Amino acid sequence: MRVLIAGGAGFIGAELAGRLLAEGHAVEVVDDLSGGSLANLAEARRSGGAFRFHQLDVTARACSDLVAHLRPDVVFHLAGARPSLCRADPPRDVEITVVGLLRLLEGARAASTRKVVMASSWTCYGELAPAELPAHEHLAMRPLSPHGIAKRSAVEYLAAARERHGIEFSALVLSSVYGPGQLASDEPGCVARFARAAASGRPLRIEGDGSQTRDFLYVDDAVDALSRAAERGSGLVLNVGTGRPTAINELAARFAAAVASPLAIERAPARPDESAHIALDPARALIHLGWRPFTPLEAGVAALFEAAAREQAAMGEVHA
Ligand SMILES: NC(=O)c1ccc[n+]([C@@H]2O[C@H](COP(=O)([O-])OP(=O)(O)OC[C@H]3O[C@@H](n4cnc5c(N)ncnc54)[C@H](O)[C@@H]3O)[C@@H](O)[C@H]2O)c1
Repeated sequence: MRVLIAGGAGFIGAELAGRLLAEGHAVEVVDDLSGGSLANLAEARRSGGAFRFHQLDVTARACSDLVAHLRPDVVFHLAGARPSLCRADPPRDVEITVVGLLRLLEGARAASTRKVVMASSWTCYGELAPAELPAHEHLAMRPLSPHGIAKRSAVEYLAAARERHGIEFSALVLSSVYGPGQLASDEPGCVARFARAAASGRPLRIEGDGSQTRDFLYVDDAVDALSRAAERGSGLVLNVGTGRPTAINELAARFAAAVASPLAIERAPARPDESAHIALDPARALIHLGWRPFTPLEAGVAALFEAAAREQAAMGEVHA
């Protein structure tokens, strides 16, 4: 296959590029490097002719032209605004998600691309009652944030493109994805922040009382689902999560277990508008993608802690 990954220089996109190259596919990455970096793609770039990088804004008309020119079999839309940009400039976040998708679809139509796979997000469910968890895809989605609303409406455009132009789609609703690739980020998720703090002996900073829950999914598992969606799960919205809610306090306790000593906790005010609880039921993904989460949280936390500790030791050597 020839695949194009928009947002492929980011945390998940770069891992996906590596996986698809290893499977023998030709990979084109489109990214404006506003959040991701070429360093994330160092290995992919070493793989030679099967990989090409295009620095381009997914919302630009030139993006449609590029897709039309490259004629990929499958397009992945993983471009997304950094969390700080989502908060500071919601219209730009919506633009990258929705206008970016329309640019990709425009190009896909001209190129007779077979399928578009969209990285959607748990935020499209909005606030769920405890009885609704883990969320199943048949639940009414009631997103409250511009980000969640944009991710949900992207599915409408995908469904219309399927109906009118025969472009297949899968929209994967990703839960909170974590992995060593986030350690280099200046805006890492909570798991990577905890790993860095634990490895450097700093307190773990918890926003709110720590009882809020997230569904933490290891990046290899997320990438496995995305790669399967290139061939399967067409016309569907599919949850990609573990189905298991983990409280932030429990996550902190798991890092303390990995370090094998108690860790200091620093409490910070809760973020306004933060969702209280989420977990995604992955049963549909098992049926339609043959996918199930593979990495237990304990193993993922240990991998991240070890990577953070290695990084810390390397920094110590540089400063010594
Ligand atoms: N990481 C998670 O926990 C998570 C959870 C749910 C959904 N998602 C979704 O998965 C996708 C990938 O997430 P990630 O964690 O890898 O994020 P990331 O920020 O690491 O990667 C996003 C990439 O998109 C690129 N980008 C941003 N604006 C662009 C533009 N206008 N044109 C071209 N490229 C642009 C950035 O440079 C970056 O490389 C995003 O769409 C995100 O919303 C992520």
